[in-house]
Amino acid sequence: MPHVLMLGPYPDWDMLPMEASYRLHKLWEQEGSDTLAENRNSVRAIATRGELGANKALIDALPNLEIIACYGVGTDAIDLPTARERRIRVTNTPDVLTGDVADIAVGLALATMRRLPAGDAHVRSGAWAQGNMGLVTRFHGKKVGIVGFGRIGSTIARRVSGFDVEIGYFDRSARSDAPHLFFPDILALAAWSDVLIVTLAGGASTHKLVGAEVFRALGPKGFLVNVSRGSTIDEPALLDALESKIIAGAGLDVFWNEPSIDPRFAAIDTVVLQPHHASGTVETRQAMGQLVRDNLAAHFAGRPLLTPVA
Ligand code: 8YV
Repeated sequence: MPHVLMLGPYPDWDMLPMEASYRLHKLWEQEGSDTLAENRNSVRAIATRGELGANKALIDALPNLEIIACYGVGTDAIDLPTARERRIRVTNTPDVLTGDVADIAVGLALATMRRLPAGDAHVRSGAWAQGNMGLVTRFHGKKVGIVGFGRIGSTIARRVSGFDVEIGYFDRSARSDAPHLFFPDILALAAWSDVLIVTLAGGASTHKLVGAEVFRALGPKGFLVNVSRGSTIDEPALLDALESKIIAGAGLDVFWNEPSIDPRFAAIDTVVLQPHHASGTVETRQAMGQLVRDNLAAHFAGRPLLTPVA
């Protein structure tokens, strides 16, 4: 059985077939031990997760590594240049999670603008008996700006079309297949938008792309949603913008320093926070695990990979 190094656990429905097909080395169970050192020459595959990635030191420690299979679409935490240099193949799980991430982006926009958690708390706490909840902001009919118009961004556009919104997007170039307004300048998109939804891929080219100037352009009636990576946003600037009401609110699934996020977020009542859970449905996670296993099986059987990362 090929030796596979797992960097974090998958759900049981994946662990059982993984155990049956591979000799697994579970890095999360090996803290302080030298199991990795003992097995470094045997490991032919890494099975990781989007947020865990695979850094250079780890790849360098595995001289016979052939493939890194990522449970997640984002490969920003994988050292791709090192993998490329060593001709190590990389796979991810695109498409199968697109619908869920788009759903949560719409859900966060609605939850933030309609203040659904505040409404829930108003009912639960009994405060309703003392008076009605304050008025909130409408979502339908608004201008929705999508930052990054790939698979997830374009699916969000399809989802929100049913809310009679106007749609604009920012990307490297205009998409001939998209009937929406194209903004080559992110500041212009932010100034136009009532709600700005960030779906950019993570990595060096998008690092802190959404910062103080974008928040100023979005303005005090504008809302932000982020379902991409924490790194795409200048987070201290976002916290400042929220605290000083430069923007109206934010719905956030991703952060810097997950899961120990900046405690300032918890004190802001115009944010709705999620624990990086956009793809966290049973249906999608089953499909993601299947795709990881299908890629590994294809690699070891010499068949073409299903979803190789270019
Ligand atoms: C997952 C993700 O939360 O796909 C990604 O890039 O960030 C998420 O779908 C994660 O990879 C699962 O551990």
